[in-house]
Amino acid sequence: MPPAQNSEPEHRAKVITFFQQKGGAGKSTCGINVAAVLGENNPPADPDDPDSPCPIVAAGIDLQGSLEKWARKVPSQRLPFDYVVTRGKLGELTDLVKDPAVRRIVVDTPGFADIDPEADLDAIDPLGKGPAAEAMREILDLTDLALVPIVPVETLTHDPAEYTVERLLRPRGIKFRMLINNWDSGTDRTKADLKEMQDWCTERGYPYMSQAIRRYKLHAKAPEKGLTVIQYPESGTALRAREDFYKLALAVEGLI
Ligand SMILES: Nc1ncnc2c1ncn2[C@@H]1O[C@H](COP(=O)(O)OP(=O)(O)O)[C@@H](O)[C@H]1O
Ligand SMILES: [Mg+2]
Repeated sequence: MPPAQNSEPEHRAKVITFFQQKGGAGKSTCGINVAAVLGENNPPADPDDPDSPCPIVAAGIDLQGSLEKWARKVPSQRLPFDYVVTRGKLGELTDLVKDPAVRRIVVDTPGFADIDPEADLDAIDPLGKGPAAEAMREILDLTDLALVPIVPVETLTHDPAEYTVERLLRPRGIKFRMLINNWDSGTDRTKADLKEMQDWCTERGYPYMSQAIRRYKLHAKAPEKGLTVIQYPESGTALRAREDFYKLALAVEGLI
């Protein structure tokens, strides 16, 4: 007789992680806002009970805790997600994916400047040794979908994006999408810059999210105000800024 099988499949939250070697391309901005939109669609079981867990968790493995700083600024009203900051502590996220109350975990990662210059080109990754590298490896192992932000025209983000894909994601077979962020749709009326960025992805065989995230001052000012897109004050710009993240979150759900 075959061994008795547990009929309940083991619960596993899906993990969406933002990776990009270089800082400044939009990992934290996009991470927080994807989590906010998913959170709006997945409220806690009892929204009136502040202790009722949210099915969406935003997680930061960043030693600087930029997510925490942002979240602390949020006024008394509840954030649409729970958040955890591991500060490099291992095992927490591995446990969290098994938590039956959690459906999605959106992870913000730090850039990784401390790469091992000796790492072979065919090594599994160039992250080297140390607590930050181990924290990155833990989240790489857990990730269901990696998003790599890149900024049109800002070519300084392009090589590090390629490096991120070639040295971290592809060797591990992690599903990834490039995320075109901070696109200045106001000046790029003909969409030439956008097209150039998309072509850059296509030339390398990198699939990209069809929804680009446009550049808005609202996003740049959000961290100091502790706001996420779902809390932006009503205006035409806020609507457009939100629209980008609603579409992105929908597409992300279709990929995991
Ligand atoms: N779509 C956007 N529109 C306007 N400003 C943006 C946008 N995305 C990112 N920024 C700004 O760019 C800077 C870097 O973004 P951030 O999310 O902190 O990048 P990372 O986490 O990858 O270092 C921040 O000042 C942020 O407010
Ligand atoms: Mg960041």
